Amino acid sequence: MNKPLALVVLISGNGSNLQSIIDAIEAGQLNAEIRAVVSNNPDAYGLQRARKQGIACYIQDHRDFSDRDQFDQQLQAYLQTVNPDYIVLAGFMRILGAELVSAFRNRIVNIHPSLLPAYKGLDTHQRALENQETHHGVSIHLVTAELDDGPILLQGRYPIEQDDQVADLQRKGHALEHRMYPRLLSWLSENKLIITESQVLHEQVELEKPLEFID
Ligand code: GAR
Repeated sequence: MNKPLALVVLISGNGSNLQSIIDAIEAGQLNAEIRAVVSNNPDAYGLQRARKQGIACYIQDHRDFSDRDQFDQQLQAYLQTVNPDYIVLAGFMRILGAELVSAFRNRIVNIHPSLLPAYKGLDTHQRALENQETHHGVSIHLVTAELDDGPILLQGRYPIEQDDQVADLQRKGHALEHRMYPRLLSWLSENKLIITESQVLHEQVELEKPLEFID
């Protein structure tokens, strides 16, 4: 067996995605070790999930920083001491600056509640409903300095039904997310997905478009 994939998970809130990763590790479905959970929000419920599991928590409240660069510099210094294989953004609602992103180039992944490149940013469910979309979904992508940009690795789709409200899309999206993130991370840990400077390989084939999540 390969050595466990070393992760740091960044959160800002509930941390249900963090929980899905913890659960997959516990269940032996994901060979990984969460070295730390980072939050910019001291009240994030996800911190309680981490503590319950005995995972180190690092809180860096963005309100303590007068500018973004300082926040990023301190976070970068912390992440460098932990030196994970991957930094996993799981509902982390801060934009990471170009310097931090380039220090961990191709080692930061993010989950976003839309079928990127559609609906970058906030309120994705509301906007999809307003536009009367028939489908919506979830994307996991590599993080670049541009918001919700970067190569898309994996996407999951679900239909929008006639009477769906924002809460319905949240529920459907979360259900998908909780299966997608552990799956993607397990591919990384098993070297089924290999990310190099110049390409992404899935089962030794260069990824030319996002993988479609199939349960
Ligand atoms: C998730 O739905 C995730 O896709 C979204 O925040 C939620 C966090 O839920 N992320 C973004 O919108 C990032 N642009 P969680 O805290 O329960 O994991």
